[in-house]
Formats: sequence, C-alpha cells, structure tokens
Amino acid sequence: MSRAGDVPDRTLRYAIVGSGMMGREHIHALAAIPDCEVVAICDPDPESLEQGCRAVARSWDSNRGQHGGKSEIARFGKVHELVAAGGFDVAVVATPNYTHRSVVEPLLNAGVHLLIEKPLCTTVQDCKDLISLERRTAVSHKVVWVGLEYRYMAPTMRLLEHVSSGVLGRLHMLAIREHRFPFLPKVGDWNRFSNNTGGTLVEKCCHFFDLMRLVLRSEPSRVFASGAQDVNHLDETYDGRVPDILDNALVIVDFENGARASLDLCMFAEATKNEQEISVVGSLGKAEALVTEGLVRLGLRANGWFQCDEDHVGHGAVPSSVLEHGAHHGSSWRQHLAMQHAIRSGTTATVSTQDGLMSVAMGEAAHRSISLGRAVRMSEVLSS
Ligand SMILES: NC(=O)c1ccc[n+]([C@@H]2O[C@H](COP(=O)([O-])OP(=O)(O)OC[C@H]3O[C@@H](n4cnc5c(N)ncnc54)[C@H](O)[C@@H]3O)[C@@H](O)[C@H]2O)c1
Repeated sequence: MSRAGDVPDRTLRYAIVGSGMMGREHIHALAAIPDCEVVAICDPDPESLEQGCRAVARSWDSNRGQHGGKSEIARFGKVHELVAAGGFDVAVVATPNYTHRSVVEPLLNAGVHLLIEKPLCTTVQDCKDLISLERRTAVSHKVVWVGLEYRYMAPTMRLLEHVSSGVLGRLHMLAIREHRFPFLPKVGDWNRFSNNTGGTLVEKCCHFFDLMRLVLRSEPSRVFASGAQDVNHLDETYDGRVPDILDNALVIVDFENGARASLDLCMFAEATKNEQEISVVGSLGKAEALVTEGLVRLGLRANGWFQCDEDHVGHGAVPSSVLEHGAHHGSSWRQHLAMQHAIRSGTTATVSTQDGLMSVAMGEAAHRSISLGRAVRMSEVLSS
C-alpha cells in the first residue's frame, strides 16, 4: 500500500469501506472523475459487497467504457484484511456511524488518505480519540477529510460566495430550515436507534452545525434546543424495541462573535418544495438559498424594501450520471474533486477532523439541552 507521504500524479486507487447506500453514491461520483479507480471494496454484508462491485462495473462502463483498465475488484469482509492486503491510496469510510471509530483506526495507522463519512463519530470523546490518533500517525501530505458535503451543494456555495464578498456587512443571524422525509431504511436498520447514530442532531444535523461555523466564521458558545420523536417510526419494532430517534427539533446557537443561528428540523415534512432553506442576514442585507429549487436571493437594504436579485443556480455543472445516482445534487462529486485537489497539491483537508468534532459537539450539546431543559455551554460538552 502506498502511504500518503508521496503526492501522487498518477491514477488514485480507492478502497470503499461500507458499500451501502452512501458507499455506492461515492462510487458513482468517483466514476465521473478522471484519473481515479475503485480497486477494493470492504463490507461484511455479502449483498452490499455484491451491489458495490456491480456499481463499480456499471458506473465505469457507462462513464468510461471500462473499469479503469481493471477487471477484478478486491473484496474484503473486514477492514483489517483490506489494510493487510493494501494496494490503495485513499479509503472512503461509509459504514454505520457507530463503527466509524473502529473502522478508521486501522486506516489511520496504515497512513492512507481518508474520507470519513459524517458524523466523524457518534460521541465527542470518540472524535477526540480519533484526532489524537490522527496526530500520532501524522504523515506529511496525508489528507483526512470529513464528509460534511452540504458545503458543496451549488446553491449553498453561491450563498457562501455572497457571505465572503462582504456585501452583507457584519453577519448577525443565520437560519437553517430542513423540512424533509423520514430517515430511510438502512442495512440492518442501524439508524433506528440513537446509540448507533449519535442521535438525530448529531447524525443528520452535523451538516447544519458545520454550515453555521463556516458561514459565521466563529465558534459556538451556547446551545438551547427543544425536540422530540412525535410522528416517525413509532409503529416499528426491532427485536421488541421501538426506535428512539428524534424527528423534529428547534435549536438556537449563540456564537462567540455575537451572531446567533437557528435550526428548524422536521422529518415528516416532505410535502414541500425545498429540503433546505438557508438565510443569512447582516447589517447591510440578506442572502438566502432554497436548496432543492436551486434558487439564491441577494437583497441589499440600500436598494429598498422587498427588493432582491434572484439567481437560478440549479445544481451546477454536474455529470448527469452523478445526478441520477446521488440525492445530494452533485455535492459528493464536488467534495471528491476538492479532496483530490488537496491530495495532488499536497495541502491539508478543507473539511478537517476538527470540523468533524465541532459539528458532533454542537449536536451533542443540543441533545443534552433537550434532556436537561436548559441552555448548554459548549465548554460543558467539549471538556467532558
Ligand atoms: N454525506 C451524507 O449526507 C450522508 C448521507 C447518508 C449517509 N451518510 C453516512 O454514510 C454512512 C453510511 O450510511 P449508509 O446510508 O450508506 O448506510 P447503509 O446501511 O446503507 O450502508 C452501510 C454499509 O456499511 C456496511 N458495514 C457495516 N459495518 C461495517 C464494517 N465494520 N466494515 C465495512 N462495512 C461495514 C454495512 O454492511 C452496509 O452495507 C453513515 O455514516 C451515514 O451517516 C452520509
């Protein structure tokens, strides 16, 4: 196996660890990028393993007429076997959240580049332990990237451009609404229990807490939340147990720079137009992104009341094969392009394990706030 020390200018060889729904979305995204190939898949579930191999064959056939020149993909049931066999430069970890820590540890020790699906881990403590191991095993030019890919949705990227241009003045308020469908079925239904996922505000909402830090360029100081499981999965049982995953919540976050942000999450609200609506307001104006419709609005107070420009950003220039297979409007594909740029140019990850830790910590603080019925300081969560 090549360790990450050399910056490769040749074809990047990928191993997919976990070839369920998200692992296969990564396969489709990678197939649309030149100079990379999937050489190995690791999954203990024979059906997922088979589907992963078929996804590689189909995607490479349709995109390039061949599977990167290779006919056989190496198959493994355990990550230790994959690591022992080697022969890859980058591993994509798309296993259930509660396995991230144990799956990532041998890969960090192996010194390969890593894309770890969100959430980095299910608890702050596990995230911290992985970050310590990342430091101990540091190899120059190694990229360890956390898959907080909502940063790479085209309308959100345009919103971020407006923010960084300074036209909005000093930022004071950010509101994120996600109104969507319930959690989908998973292999072994691992996502029905908070112990496996970290809880909805970690599992799902780490994306939004990451966006809050990115937009406001500040760290969170305090979190207050209210939420419950009111509608979804209450009629399901698994080995006699009813799922315990929260399906709606309101979360308010204070930031060190004085800005405040809110999250409005509802997971029984698919009868709507936009899955995500993001609005950011500064002293000089407001920008908003309607993510499913691909609309971005920018209004400046100097131009008067109820005036704003509206841009149809769509999903950007995403290959149709990627749009067909991923429900993330091309963000997985853009994330891989950005990560490969970091690998090839010898720079560090844009979305780091520290970002992964903070997004989990904000979710953990929100869950703690719900159970304690009071605001929770980030220091309470980060120091424990
Ligand atoms: N970026 C996003 O927006 C996004 C969207 C969905 C899921 N995810 C994340 O992707 C990860 C996978 O989710 P999914 O929806 O694909 O779940 P899934 O259940 O569809 O697939 C998970 C796969 O991992 C396999 N697996 C379990 N333990 C393993 C191990 N130790 N080693 C190798 N493989 C193992 C399972 O057999 C299964 O095939 C989760 O962390 C999830 O939170 C991210």
